[in-house]
Amino acid sequence: MAEKFYITTPIYYPSGNMHIGHTYTTVAADTMTRFKRMTGYDTYFLTGTDEHGQKIEEKAAEAGVTPKEFVDKIVAETKKLWELMNIQYDDFIRTTDERHEKIVQKIFRQFYEQGDIYKSEYEGMYCTPCESFWTPSQLVEKNGEKVCPDCGRPCKPTKEESYFFRMSKYQDWLIDYIETHPDFIQPAARANEMLNNFLRPGLQDLCVSRTSFKWGVPVDFDDKHVVYVWIDALSNYITALGYGTENDELMQKYWPANVHLVGKEIVRFHTIYWPIMLHALGLPLPKQVFGHGWLLFGGDKMAKSKGNVQYAQPVVARYGCDALRYYLMREMPFGADGNYTNEAFLTRLNADLANDLGNLVSRTVAMLEKYFDGILPAWTDAVDNELDKPLHEHCAALPALVEAQMDKLQYSQALAEIWKVIGECNKYIDQTQPWILGKDPEKKDRLANVLLTLAECVRYVAVLIYPFMPTTPGRIFEQLGVADEALKTWDSLKTFGQLPAGIKVCKGEALFPRIDVKKELEILSPAEDAPKAEAKPEKKQEKKQEKKHEEPEYPAEIAIDTFFQSKIQVGRVLECTNVPKSKKLLQFRLSFGKDGERTILSGIAQYYPNPEELVGRQIVAITNLKPRMMMGIESHGMILSAVDGNENLRLVSVGEGVEDGAIVG
Ligand code: MSP
Repeated sequence: MAEKFYITTPIYYPSGNMHIGHTYTTVAADTMTRFKRMTGYDTYFLTGTDEHGQKIEEKAAEAGVTPKEFVDKIVAETKKLWELMNIQYDDFIRTTDERHEKIVQKIFRQFYEQGDIYKSEYEGMYCTPCESFWTPSQLVEKNGEKVCPDCGRPCKPTKEESYFFRMSKYQDWLIDYIETHPDFIQPAARANEMLNNFLRPGLQDLCVSRTSFKWGVPVDFDDKHVVYVWIDALSNYITALGYGTENDELMQKYWPANVHLVGKEIVRFHTIYWPIMLHALGLPLPKQVFGHGWLLFGGDKMAKSKGNVQYAQPVVARYGCDALRYYLMREMPFGADGNYTNEAFLTRLNADLANDLGNLVSRTVAMLEKYFDGILPAWTDAVDNELDKPLHEHCAALPALVEAQMDKLQYSQALAEIWKVIGECNKYIDQTQPWILGKDPEKKDRLANVLLTLAECVRYVAVLIYPFMPTTPGRIFEQLGVADEALKTWDSLKTFGQLPAGIKVCKGEALFPRIDVKKELEILSPAEDAPKAEAKPEKKQEKKQEKKHEEPEYPAEIAIDTFFQSKIQVGRVLECTNVPKSKKLLQFRLSFGKDGERTILSGIAQYYPNPEELVGRQIVAITNLKPRMMMGIESHGMILSAVDGNENLRLVSVGEGVEDGAIVG
């Protein structure tokens, strides 16, 4: 029986239409599913939408429709987008599906009945107009009064009844689980982040119900409350399989999932809350949670709320779905962040697809037509061991090389392996010079082997790119004249040299016509391209940094209001890396608690040679400075540091127990 493989994407919030960031995860899941299916697995691929919560409720109210009407429209658009991207999911779960809601209620009740959930009171400062709770440290000071950080109005101490999940009870078990299952959280650095930043400092019990809004799954034994969105959302991975129903064959067959693909910002929910929920239900944990990086736009996470998004539709309409899928999987290693720019996309389209792959296919087919009337000859004994053997061997080894990368979810590396063979083929054409062989009738046997070698390599490539680019192989096979389905399978790559003599090749249209990048950039609307600010000269920015140690001239005194104009906050380092090509700059990804995350650059690289060691540390930053571009990356704030006795800059730190996002002042 085939081994099973169950893969999921996060379920997306239908608060707006899905952009290229969401497309990225979904394409990755689809590519992996196709690869696993091709290599003999029994696959199941789940995606869907996470439709409850206050935000959706508010958006619907703004639009003057019911929440359900609001999400229905976006879900319909989402499904159309996945069709356009050639996404073949097995199921699309919506958290508003009855099959899901019923089981979420059952799960919540079970937690309550077995004592994992208890009722208590949530204490905090409450802003009535905003209907929001704040901890005292989140409040801001205005005219001597503590006020709501969102609307600036006074808050009052309030208690609200809530259900809480005893997360703390499972903390030691989870630490041990993560430590003894090194593959569970990938990339490994994310496991350390979870252990060091959240688990080892101690888990708080989690507030798992809300009474302040209605758009959620009602707690069935206390219907004033709705279930907290993350308890609701995470359950989708099992409710979709029929967990808790009589019809649970899929659950029996596919659970535990092989991999949950998630963006790095939600690794925490998937590797802390979700494992604890599953353990409390007596279920095994998913084999892996892979936290991939973000598509950035001008150095910042692409997000609708920031207005810096690129949508897939205009790109696909112009260049096809395979070109975009290829770019998304090729451009950055899975796990790392990468900038999306139309220019980088168009450049790769020309270089990798039009030139490398497209030319190889068209040259091979054209030469077969020219020298053999388009009919594939038989292999001959005119072999050149020095030229043919290495290429045959490399190509024969390619499936294993690709599989090894795919097993690690290294999509980009898998494609790089395929493109190495394509590059080698193009070099082989230059070395063997078929056009010279073609002039000499005595060299016909040699020419036959050269062109067969190329055609067979092209067949290998066509089979291997299928998971990434599902429609291109069909077009290649048509040109190669390969109709036999058996020659299009993974199994057909076991031995090199399967292409039979006598099949007729047929030159077709260029797979990926070469494009004029400059012209295309003008056609793709500016809003869809990287912000123009990115083109700013980089040297100037570096120069400004050099002045770091110079003390500015301070006025003798300033009014207190002037000081209060700077929003100074405590942030926690989530990631810290050197900025490529800059000796001075470090790029920080910081969490400011409920104020979210942001990227800030700081010119202190020479003082912190191992920037990764700063991960987990709290720093102090001004967060309401106008954003500015440095080395093509947008920096949203300024990190504070001070010069020590040796003229070294040291990061300013805070005392223990200060929450991320806390205001300094
Ligand atoms: N609804 C939750 C997930 C619940 S899963 C049980 C959520 N939804 S979301 O709509 O905000 O989308 C989250 C996912 O979309 C991210 O985790 C990531 O997979 C993908 N991405 C959204 N923007 C992205 C980028 N800019 N870059 C890469 N992926 C991004 O969180």
